[in-house]
Amino acid sequence: MTPSDVKATLSFSDGSPSMDLPLYKGSIGPDVIDIRKLYGQTGKFTYDPGFLSTASCNSTITYIDGDKGELLYRGYPIEQLAKNCDFLETCHLLLYGDLPDEAQKKDFTARVSNHTMVNEQMQFFLRGFRRDAHPMAIMTGLVGALSAFYHDSTDINNPVHRDIAAIRLIAKMPTLVAMAYKYTQGQPYMYPKNKLSYSANFMQMMFANPCEDYEQNDVLVRAMDRIFILHADHEQNASTSTVRLCGSSGTNPFAAIAAGVACLWGPSHGGANEACLNMLGDIQKMGGVEKIGEFIKQVKDKNSTVKLMGFGHRVYKNYDPRATLMRETCHEVLGALGLQNDPLFKLAMALEKIALEDDYFVSRKLYPNVDFYSGIVQRAIGIPVPLFTAIFALARTVGWVAQLNEMIGDPEYKIGRPRQLYVGAVARDVKPIGDR
Ligand code: ACO
Repeated sequence: MTPSDVKATLSFSDGSPSMDLPLYKGSIGPDVIDIRKLYGQTGKFTYDPGFLSTASCNSTITYIDGDKGELLYRGYPIEQLAKNCDFLETCHLLLYGDLPDEAQKKDFTARVSNHTMVNEQMQFFLRGFRRDAHPMAIMTGLVGALSAFYHDSTDINNPVHRDIAAIRLIAKMPTLVAMAYKYTQGQPYMYPKNKLSYSANFMQMMFANPCEDYEQNDVLVRAMDRIFILHADHEQNASTSTVRLCGSSGTNPFAAIAAGVACLWGPSHGGANEACLNMLGDIQKMGGVEKIGEFIKQVKDKNSTVKLMGFGHRVYKNYDPRATLMRETCHEVLGALGLQNDPLFKLAMALEKIALEDDYFVSRKLYPNVDFYSGIVQRAIGIPVPLFTAIFALARTVGWVAQLNEMIGDPEYKIGRPRQLYVGAVARDVKPIGDR
């Protein structure tokens, strides 16, 4: 970290001595005030629920400028990566810091391909779930269970173990997601085919069956690959912070990533794509485009809990750049499948238009986020709605792993242990039960 010449001075109105706090400059983005000595010197903590003003680490992986609507992976704009690279190149970039050259790409692809199968026992583990279990419930279990199958890559302090675990996780997530899907359908699992690209292989594991040949559609494979690239990492969001916090105890990488999967499930985070599609379905049932006004009224009502899912973001106070790219893909996919007149898509476009012009959303800088469009694309591809968040987890795994490995390699890393402002009862004595 680069120290700044500027210092922040913290003073108190009760006459306690003031304190100088060091400031550090990032390569871009806001400076940070180092408060690590604050408690030791003043006996006070900072208070920041939801981490609105807290940088939990320093990182070289992803940068977001929420006001500009900019997203960089290792310095490269997301638009350039989405248009010029494939997902495995993006994985190499996030994990190792740079895009691969031809030879590195060949080597990396071969390493990932070498690990696409999962231990055959995993299918027996899967059988313990109900057929109608939510795919994210299954994924949380399956990813955590990997630690029971791959003992030789569970030592988080060993860089070789960390690297093999990273490759295994990236390679096996598509297999696990496809298995979770096939299980709910009662269909046989399809083994990976390593001659296919990462995304084409995922599509065949999802949609092929042993009785018929499966024809790949290049537009859909490209769309899937773009979904993966756009979701690959996103700075210190809730699930990534969960992975870091979980990993900070020294637990194994599979367990830490399982914690990330569990966090991602929530509708304020990765579950938003599923929630968004369900919301569109609900409006459709209410009467479709004609009922948008009524729905928006509920969203704006302070006394209701209804939100416009797929809109708003903690960091982006401008158009989410991933949403722009996903919107483009959305049109491409619907065009290729002849679904431009699909009622749900028309409804989504009408909703987007109204929300972008409505003062409630404009004044709060609520723009569509990537999930608004990714759900529509996935539905068009044929992915069932409950599987959307599992696909997000598949894509985000590389980001989680890169962030986890960065943390373990950081000499300043410590077990994460926030403090609190205690507002509960002061010490009191337990009375005998008859006197309470
Ligand atoms: N619909 C309606 N109102 C909204 C929405 C929304 N989607 N999002 C925010 N608001 C309103 C809030 O009610 C609040 O209004 P107020 O100032 O009158 O009280 C104001 O906008 C600010 O909202 P906050 O909740 O403070 O914003 P925060 O940064 O905490 O929340 C979040 C961000 C959770 C993403 C929120 O916008 C949301 O719930 N959106 C819908 C879910 C969603 O799409 N999540 C996906 C995020 S992207 C991702 O994970 C890949």
